[in-house]
Amino acid sequence: MQKPILEVNGLKKYFDIRGGPIGRKVGEVKAVDDVSFTVREGEILGIVGESGCGKSTTGKAILRLIEPTAGKVTFLDKDITSLNNSEMRSLRKDMQIIFQDPYASLNPRHTVEKIIGEPLLVHGMDSVKQRTERVQELLEVVGLSPYHAKRYPHQFSGGQRQRIGIARALANNPKLVICDEPVSALDVSIQSQILNLMEKLRDEFNLTYIFIAHDLSVVKHISDRIGVMYLGRMVELTDKNKLYDSPKHPYTQALLSAVPLPDPDLKRDRVILKGDVPSPANPPSGCAFHTRCPLAMDICKEVRPVFNPVEDNHFVACHLYE
Ligand SMILES: Nc1ncnc2c1ncn2[C@@H]1O[C@H](COP(=O)(O)OP(=O)(O)OP(=O)(O)O)[C@@H](O)[C@H]1O
Ligand code: SF4
Ligand SMILES: [Mg+2]
Repeated sequence: MQKPILEVNGLKKYFDIRGGPIGRKVGEVKAVDDVSFTVREGEILGIVGESGCGKSTTGKAILRLIEPTAGKVTFLDKDITSLNNSEMRSLRKDMQIIFQDPYASLNPRHTVEKIIGEPLLVHGMDSVKQRTERVQELLEVVGLSPYHAKRYPHQFSGGQRQRIGIARALANNPKLVICDEPVSALDVSIQSQILNLMEKLRDEFNLTYIFIAHDLSVVKHISDRIGVMYLGRMVELTDKNKLYDSPKHPYTQALLSAVPLPDPDLKRDRVILKGDVPSPANPPSGCAFHTRCPLAMDICKEVRPVFNPVEDNHFVACHLYE
């Protein structure tokens, strides 16, 4: 088994809710609430869950683009939660993020050359000539042409813009790339082109990805293992085939029941979850899923289930398996 490149332990991010005339703290949104997992070198770890369950916040807190409330993140054997700003800046060379929205994440007033060249400059490539050459090389790597360097973001299609975002993320040869729904904003036909490109780049440049999505069918294609989040918590994590063939957590079972099987003769019983996702400002006690779980027991309302391995390499947070 490859060694872990990233270890996340007890990660929490609570956002203050402020109200009243002087903006006093009146509560907290528990966006990420005690999440632990590891990422192995060279793997693609998918993270899925409904909108608002804390996927992006997890990604940003790992990179410390937002400061975690608690928890420890170890990257390449270094505890990065204790690094100061300048140490963190130099480490960011090795950890990059690709955002969901290729429209909002590129500065519309900058040329592609400047957008992709900026991280090179930040990390010490002072020579204009070297940067120009590297930008041209990166454009080719992501399937664009060197002449695109002089253009502005609005002169590209959505798929091309996401390629620019990928080129920018790869500029300094990172080791880990957090991909936050990189294809959600794209047409289905373009999605697979970008996914194929990302897989090819993973192999070519020895990358490790955390791949965030809300669509299980997108992560199935690309992931080695998949973690499922619900209301700020990780509820199940295992190899993708195990997850798809024998999901253990009732929430994963419900999510998967909505995904069509490749063989049309096989059918899963569709589980319709009752109610809406509760607010992370006021999550249910015990197991946060108990208000919607078809198998909830008395203990589920009282005691939070621990995220434990129930089999080799299969973690589940549910009292049914304790
Ligand atoms: N800066 C912030 N201030 C306050 N609350 C926030 C902030 N960022 C996120 N949240 C809240 O934290 C929770 C998790 O948000 P997050 O963006 O991580 O979810 P997500 O799983 O990425 O959702 P989506 O699939 O819609 O992108 C949400 O309830 C959100 O409203
Ligand atoms: S702990 Fe209880 S409520 Fe939560 S998923 Fe398991 S059975 Fe359902
Ligand atoms: Mg998000």
